[in-house]
Amino acid sequence: MKRWLNLAFVASCAMIFLACSLGIGTKKQAANVGIIPAPAKMELLGGSFPVGAKTRIVLLGDTKPLAARFLSAGLKERTGMELPILRSGKAVKGAIALELSKDASGNPEGYKLTVKRDGVLISAPTETGLFYGTQSVLQMADARQATPAKKLGLPCVRIEDQPRYGYRGLMLDESRHFFGKEVVKQTLDQMAYLKMNRFHWHLTDTPGWRIEIKKYPKLTEVGSIGNNTTTETAPEFYTQDEIREIVAYAAARQIMIIPEVDMPGHANAAVRSYPELAGGISRRHGHFVFNPAKEETYRFLEDVLSEVAQLFPAPFIHLGGDEVSFGNQDWKTDPEILKFGRERGLNNPIELEHYFVKRMADYINKLGKTTMGWDEITSSGVSRDGSVLFWWRHNMPNALKVGLKEGYPVVLCPRTPCYFDFIQDKRDKVGRTTLLNSIDKVYDFPDPIIAKYAPAGTESQIMGIEACVWSEDIAGAKRMQYMVYPRIAALAEACWTPKAGKHYEGFMSRLGSYLCVLDQEKIYYYDPFNPDKTPEAAGPGKAVKPY
Ligand code: ACM
Repeated sequence: MKRWLNLAFVASCAMIFLACSLGIGTKKQAANVGIIPAPAKMELLGGSFPVGAKTRIVLLGDTKPLAARFLSAGLKERTGMELPILRSGKAVKGAIALELSKDASGNPEGYKLTVKRDGVLISAPTETGLFYGTQSVLQMADARQATPAKKLGLPCVRIEDQPRYGYRGLMLDESRHFFGKEVVKQTLDQMAYLKMNRFHWHLTDTPGWRIEIKKYPKLTEVGSIGNNTTTETAPEFYTQDEIREIVAYAAARQIMIIPEVDMPGHANAAVRSYPELAGGISRRHGHFVFNPAKEETYRFLEDVLSEVAQLFPAPFIHLGGDEVSFGNQDWKTDPEILKFGRERGLNNPIELEHYFVKRMADYINKLGKTTMGWDEITSSGVSRDGSVLFWWRHNMPNALKVGLKEGYPVVLCPRTPCYFDFIQDKRDKVGRTTLLNSIDKVYDFPDPIIAKYAPAGTESQIMGIEACVWSEDIAGAKRMQYMVYPRIAALAEACWTPKAGKHYEGFMSRLGSYLCVLDQEKIYYYDPFNPDKTPEAAGPGKAVKPY
């Protein structure tokens, strides 16, 4: 997290800025201020507010200090100055003031930020809004390349900001390859910086089970060994203490962590640990499904979900529910499974799958949580009030249309452009190459899709957007970063900025300073201003077959 700039770094940033201004141009004033995602409303006032050793951060009224602490620490990293945090009943001249104020914005995540020559005021109705106001201030400092050697002048602006969507997500698959706590925290830092607020954690799947469950220790003793590259690794998983630590780390950054326990398919790691739960074998996908005919299976999953519900304060649990047909062939022939179905009037594997999903979704609801699931769960009859669909099958727009028509809330994450395991530049030779999810395509999302597929009157059911980082072909942190950055910034703007405020060229002109931030944080990224930097340099990954 060290932010002292060396000469080479300053030179490379200067080149990016030069490239931006020569090659792309700054269409909007937002470019001068450098905030990503672009604020909903912003007016440049002229002049600047000097941040100096005498500047104070002031908490007005009973405003809590969390956001102020992030601001103070962030400014210290950038400028070397540690600005003290004081409390005051009234405005203080020359200070950066934070105020929790009910009428600051109608949106609980919104904030107002006014920078004048004689002081700065961030006001918001919640701690979250204040936190986002401080991130905007830090981004303005980054766009000015604040350094200890250089005086920081924040540009005078009036910002009234709030997100377009309440769900601004990133999903990380740590089953196929495990990245570990420090990489996750670094990812959360970047999400917070970009005002993203939902981290969907894909913790169980075919190669590995990655979360400690006290009642079933073999899940991690056996199920966490191996990944998509090799079956011979040491166990790799998060202990419950580590989960709590990461959940708290995220919460301080206004990010909710949503755990996923995938079922009834993608269950190989679980049934490798407890073979009595296996529900058949498929040639291509092995022991892919749980056994739907055993009460033991449901008891096991209920126990797992109960521990998960305790660990994660989020009001959601994701139960997967995708691609069951990859491995349920034996559901057509196994006498026990056929008998179980017959007794319940379930006539085929699809009806049995729906029974399974609905039963577990209802259990999640009984735990007091809303069920989330991939769009296959739509037809299983899960409750409209207690479920959220994730539309991922871009080639099945009907799944979106039907889900919306039936009244479900929906998160949009179609493979194109939201799956970040697909390449972002047509020159990329490593990774999934059958779809090109370029920065501009991500940026344009979701309006073309909404216009094409959302039935009239259903747009308000769209909770937001999620980028999904599947890691079958992403075997290390460096490669993961190459696939995520910087297109995550385009996604953040698609999640936040109103349609009328989006301008791709303006975004690209602000992206230069974000690349400098990534350099500072030693995060590897695809460089759209220097695309010949090869993906092969981004560490392990392999060319894969079409989807
Ligand atoms: C998925 O990509 N199977 C949700």
